[in-house]
Amino acid sequence: MKYGFFEDASREYVITNPQTPWPWINYLGNEDFFSLISNSAGGYSFYKDAKFRRLTRYRYNTAPIDNGGRYFYIKDEDTVWSPGWKPVKTPLDSYECRHGMSYTKITGVKNGVSAEVLCFIPLKSWAEVQKVKLTNNSDKVKKLKLSSFMEWCLWNAEDDQNNLQRNLSTGEVEVVDSTIYHKTEYKERRNHYAFYHVNAPIQGFDTDRESFVGLYNEFSNPQVVFEGKPRNTVAHGWSPIASHYLEVELKPGETKEFVFILGYIENPDDEKWESKGVINKKRAKELIARFDTVEKVNAAFADLKSYWDNLLSVYMLKSSDEKLNRSVNIWNQYQCMVTFNMSRSASFFEVGIGRGMGFRDSNQDLIGFVHQIPERARERIIDIASTQFEDGGAYHQYQPLTKRGNNAIGGNFNDDPLWLILSTTVYIKETGDYSILDEMVPFDNDETKAKPHFDHLKASFYHVVNNLGPHKLPLIGRADWNDCLNLNCFSNNPNESFQTTENQKGGTAESLMIAGLFVVYGRDFVELCRQIGKNAEADAAQIHVNNMVEAIKTHGWDGEWFLRAYDFYGKKVGSKENEEGKIFIESQGWCTMAGIGVEEGMCKSALDAVKRDLDCEYGIVLNNPAFTKYVVEYGEISTYPAGYKENAGIFCHNNPWIMIGETVIKRPDMAMDYFKKICPAYLEEISDLHKTEPYVYSQMIAGKDAFKPGEAKNSWLTGTASWNFYAISHSILGIKPQYNGLQIDPCVPPSFGDYQVQRKFRGATYNIQIKNGSKGFGVKRLTVDGKVVEGNIIPLGTANSLNILVELD
Ligand code: GLC
Ligand code: GLC
Repeated sequence: MKYGFFEDASREYVITNPQTPWPWINYLGNEDFFSLISNSAGGYSFYKDAKFRRLTRYRYNTAPIDNGGRYFYIKDEDTVWSPGWKPVKTPLDSYECRHGMSYTKITGVKNGVSAEVLCFIPLKSWAEVQKVKLTNNSDKVKKLKLSSFMEWCLWNAEDDQNNLQRNLSTGEVEVVDSTIYHKTEYKERRNHYAFYHVNAPIQGFDTDRESFVGLYNEFSNPQVVFEGKPRNTVAHGWSPIASHYLEVELKPGETKEFVFILGYIENPDDEKWESKGVINKKRAKELIARFDTVEKVNAAFADLKSYWDNLLSVYMLKSSDEKLNRSVNIWNQYQCMVTFNMSRSASFFEVGIGRGMGFRDSNQDLIGFVHQIPERARERIIDIASTQFEDGGAYHQYQPLTKRGNNAIGGNFNDDPLWLILSTTVYIKETGDYSILDEMVPFDNDETKAKPHFDHLKASFYHVVNNLGPHKLPLIGRADWNDCLNLNCFSNNPNESFQTTENQKGGTAESLMIAGLFVVYGRDFVELCRQIGKNAEADAAQIHVNNMVEAIKTHGWDGEWFLRAYDFYGKKVGSKENEEGKIFIESQGWCTMAGIGVEEGMCKSALDAVKRDLDCEYGIVLNNPAFTKYVVEYGEISTYPAGYKENAGIFCHNNPWIMIGETVIKRPDMAMDYFKKICPAYLEEISDLHKTEPYVYSQMIAGKDAFKPGEAKNSWLTGTASWNFYAISHSILGIKPQYNGLQIDPCVPPSFGDYQVQRKFRGATYNIQIKNGSKGFGVKRLTVDGKVVEGNIIPLGTANSLNILVELD
């Protein structure tokens, strides 16, 4: 069953039934100021950091679900309704929510009145703009009462939910004309406040939640709205809110538009006050003045549209598969921008207080984003590297506001360092900007320990070399990419976190996943060294890579597939000798991506085993058989019910590793088949089962052993976005930026037919036409502007635009 449809021309997903199987959300904002918005206007806003600078309050995991947002209430005689259906839930005559590129437009129609609410964050501004357009389509005069509503969060979102003894006494506001200012704690320590404004005179307001909603009422039936009378309350403590009250008279056929602005202001210390206790509003007024008319808002909206036109023009596919086109050209790239911005911090599954920017996550997110805004990718790489330790190890995450690493969700994940080689090499291949390697970057945020960025990559590489176990395979540390494979932890206490518990000393658990990863990014490190003339460095590194390949072949092969690990005691994990968890996806992915044992048939055998033992209708599960009991020497992975999360769930992030592995052994049909299984655009028809948004990837789909196979959870913030974009754009469609030019190396099913890609690369536009062949891989002939080029790399040149014709075998 579907709940809407894709409208590719406008790059929107149009929801036509408000009762989606789960709130289907969107993100507003691209830099600094962000909002989450559901299809019924739920969600919240924050400045830079969803934990430390939360502007508005939202309630997670409540009944009713999706509780709190930017709500509008319309009272039309005795009928009260909301344009987004919720919170009032009065049945609407029509409803539509258009989620587009960084904006959402929700339209509700009731009793001849149409209310359209367009929400977006203008470029380079710390404000969410909400343009509300009311139209009277009836034949009589309408006297409407319009109330806005949002609830302030007291800045620190974690404290806001738990430190009630303190914060129920701290709330403070000011109301001046049509602006409600939230100034809680704006004293000596804080230099920031927020405001909510409307560009029209108001006939009343409320800022005290209890008075507005009514003590035992809900957002669905606020007493002030139903009474049709604001109380003009000024909050002192408790829970401050912001609600404007407007009386709007509309003649038949008449339209009126209002602009609401939620803004965030920081003041320098010497400009904090207007007078004693009264905040300085100068900057707020300036911000308001930028968007105080419909014309200004429309212009800002047009700017946002062209911003996205531009971003999405870097990689454009034209093929006969419309679902693939919309995934590649619109939604997958869009999701890559969102994961770049948010890492794993704030979604409807990530509460914005637990996790900041992940070291491994953010490095991986870059591979789907670097072509969009390389300068921001560069900045991110430096930010991440600045938190690294001198021995190459890493904090697992950092807070975006302070950019400092912390151990809140653990440390010592031995895969972490390697992802920095991935992000940096992908960045240089995209841009040709080698200068990043010379940039002085601190270790552990300590400027006195700054070294050229190249040294960080070297530290990453040698962190693996210096941490090998008895089989000369990488020690796993706390865990590798699979956070839940905690082979040294031995936790028997349910009150401990697997992320932060002290590991048992003396463990020598080793990871085949890191081993494969090391071969892939170790080779990239070697290649990079050669590019910059560090040949001795390259030679030295190559020896370690070769040794790792040997160690994997000797100690990492189980006969038919690659082992997953050796545990604390040196016993095999992911082997036919095991009762449960005989085979795992990650090592099959990385060892086949590295092409280990491809000549001996190991890759083919491993991928055949994946097909046989891990694949199912909805994607490839992580391990098989699922764990049914807790295994203390394996940790968190065995705590999950079978078929969920890291215990045999379809953990979508790792599926593209298998797709790429399939392209290494040139099985394009298999690669594409895996791609379509988890790509959301192909799942739209089963939305009621899939549950999450059909326009973005989810982290996990319940696997074959689950209660409800095919049901997804944790949409939006997942490495799945960037890895699938990488797999499809790079490995399958075959457009690969290299140091010395653009390589064309497709691996597509012959049945896929011919296709075109427009790729902007190093300042030029490449119009690439691919003529498919009977195999779907291997370049038979490549011409650039009619001239034959040997090999499959288009050399860098001076032309602004090139026409490329490629014939495949
Ligand atoms: C989550 C984490 C990621 C980890 C994965 C597997 O997606 O964000 O860092 O690799 O789970 O455990
Ligand atoms: C849990 C989750 C895993 C996630 C981790 C982050 O272990 O299962 O997916 O990466 O928490 O803290």
